[in-house]
Order: sequence, then structure tokens, then C-alpha cells
Amino acid sequence: MKIPFNKIFFTGKEIIYISEAIKMTSVIGDGYFNNKVADFLENRLEVPKVLTTTSGTHSLELAMLLIDIKPGDEIILPSFTFTSTANAILLFKGRPIFVDINPATLSIESKEIEKKISEKTKAIMPVHYGGIGCEMDSIMELAHKHNLFVIEDAAQAVGAKYLDKPLGTWGHIGCYSFHGTKNFISGEGGAISINNNNPQLIERAEIIRQKGTNRNKFLKGEIDKYSWVDIGSSYVPSDILMAVLYAQLAAMDEIILKREIIVNHYIKRLQPLIGRGSLISMTNIPEGFKSNYHNFYIVLRDEQSRDNLINQLKIHGIQSYIHYLPLHSSPMGRILGYSPSDLPITEQIGATLLRLPLYTDMTIEECDFVIEKLYDILGG
Ligand SMILES: Cc1ncc(COP(=O)(O)O)c(C=O)c1O
Repeated sequence: MKIPFNKIFFTGKEIIYISEAIKMTSVIGDGYFNNKVADFLENRLEVPKVLTTTSGTHSLELAMLLIDIKPGDEIILPSFTFTSTANAILLFKGRPIFVDINPATLSIESKEIEKKISEKTKAIMPVHYGGIGCEMDSIMELAHKHNLFVIEDAAQAVGAKYLDKPLGTWGHIGCYSFHGTKNFISGEGGAISINNNNPQLIERAEIIRQKGTNRNKFLKGEIDKYSWVDIGSSYVPSDILMAVLYAQLAAMDEIILKREIIVNHYIKRLQPLIGRGSLISMTNIPEGFKSNYHNFYIVLRDEQSRDNLINQLKIHGIQSYIHYLPLHSSPMGRILGYSPSDLPITEQIGATLLRLPLYTDMTIEECDFVIEKLYDILGG
């Protein structure tokens, strides 16, 4: 049996909606399916405004422009994240301040964040790792105490909740990704949510997304020509891609449930292996979290055990992947002045975490095949 790491799931509606988008030739840019996706997410997330974007990366950049990041502003984030979280800060000459993660959730928490707050801190950027995420109640409390913006990197957390509130909607702005590796995909794509009903902020987001113009007002018929009114960029996705995404989002509950069944199966069957051999821990969903089951990971005793396991699984036709190489100890992190020992938990997790195959249409038989090989290899 060959078990890929990921397999894209299509609902069957994508092709129908793509052809509808093409037939509506009047607006193939910010058109019908862009609005359908934005309306769906506004209802689902219960936020005043969602704007679709070209990627999770661009959502983060748009967020930085919205909070008016200035050179030298410090923004607190994990090092255990994708480069886009930190690049969004650096692109505008801000300073990424990395904090260590909680080993139970692999996300950052208020206790460590507070230690890094200075008079230059402008914002906190929590990243919701693997669709589980951060304890946002205490992070928001801290942010209010210090008058900081909170920009949630919820790239992996669409459909996930903490204390029954969607991740991405706790802070001022939420950033989401629909990249081909996510639960709900358009190949490339993203969204940003403005979580407070702040008309000026919403209008500015629309302007920045539309190349610094008030084209949105023009499209709504509020003005008869549009002009350049602010800085901006090109963050509007094609309606064809949003047609694909709308088909996916409409199946959100079904997709999450299918993934939940697989993750719960992994957890149940691998539990007896924990603490035996080199297996230390695995995905853990603490109380209060409703995961979207974006990934399933195990943590090995050391890097060598992890790398050996990757090779042995490969021999059996099973693809598995490491995850983030910590940003603080990357070549760029070192240029910024960090050294590996600054964040020991992140460093350890980066070297020992392994993601196992998980995709929406994975069968229990495929999952059992992976589990059996793990028992064979890890000696359970
Ligand atoms: C935590 C995190 N932030 C940001 C991104 C960037 O998203 P995108 O690939 O849509 O630009 C990713 C994704 O891949 C991610 O995992």
C-alpha cells in the first residue's frame, strides 16, 4: 500500500462553480464567488467583515498595513511558524520578537509573551498551530492591559474554535489561508477578518486590498469613478479560485468530521505506544479547544530517531514530513541576532516532530496500515 502525506479532497461542486464563474464574464476578478466566500465566512465566523485575499501571506501583509506598522515596531510571535508570519513584519521594517511555545499545544501563551513586552511592542501575532491553537482569552487580556493589537495567524485554523469562539476572531484581525495544503483549498488563496465593527478600519482594508483605490465604493455604485486614496497592493483573488473555495467551504463540517475520525483513530491506537521506545507524545487537544484537525503529529525522543522513522516509513510506502524549521535558528533568524538556545522548546520540537499522513478522504484501513508500521518500527 502507498500512503501519501496529503491528498487534495474535492467535493465535486468545484467544476460546476468554476464554469459558472467563467460564464459570468462580467466580473471575473472581485465578483460573485468572492462575495459568496466573504458572506459565508462572515456568517460562520460571526464577524463584521471578511475580505478574500490572494494568500495567507498577503492577509498577514494587509494586516501589517492596517495596524500602520512603523520601522522599529516590535511584534511578538512564535518561531515555530511559517516564514510568512515573520516576513510580514520584516517587509515593513518591524522587528519580530520570537517567544517559545507551550509543548502541549505547540503555540505561544501569555506567560511567555508578557516577558517580551517592551515600550516598542505594537502587536502580538499568535499562530494557531495545526488547527488547535492558542489560549486566546489570556492573550487578549494581556493585549488589553498593554494596549496592543492582536493579529491572529489562523492560516491553519479555519473552522477551529477556542472556548466556542472561532480562532481568528478573538483578536483585532484574523488571517486565513486556503493554500493547497490546507483543509479547505483554492490552490492559492486567503482571507482576512476585521473583528471589530470599525467602519474606518473596514474601509481602509478594502482600499489597501484594491491597490490603494476606492474601487469598492465604485463597484457598490457609491461613486462614479474611483481614484488613488491610500497605499495598497493587489490582494484580490480571481473569482475562478473563489468558485473552488466556495465549493470547499460549503462542505466545511463534512471535511472537519472526516478528518476528526482519522485523528481520533490515530490518537486511540497510538496511545499505548507513548513512552515506549522513542515515541514521546502526539497531537493533543486540550480542553476548551475544538480542532479543525489540520494535521496529526508525533514527537520522537531525538532527531536521529525521528529521521530514522521517516526513512523506515518511506520503505513501506508511507510519506511523513517534519514541520517548521524554527525561524529563530534559521540563517535569517541568526542575521536578526537570535541563537538556537534562545528558544529551547521550539528547537527541540523542530528537531523531533513528525507529521503523519492525514487527508480528508483517508480510510481507516490506510490509517491502520500506518499505525501497524509504526508499531513494527517503534517496537511496541
Ligand atoms: C502558520 C502559517 N502562516 C501563514 C501561512 C501562509 O499562507 P499561504 O501559503 O496561503 O500564503 C502558512 C502556510 O502555508 C502557515 O502555515
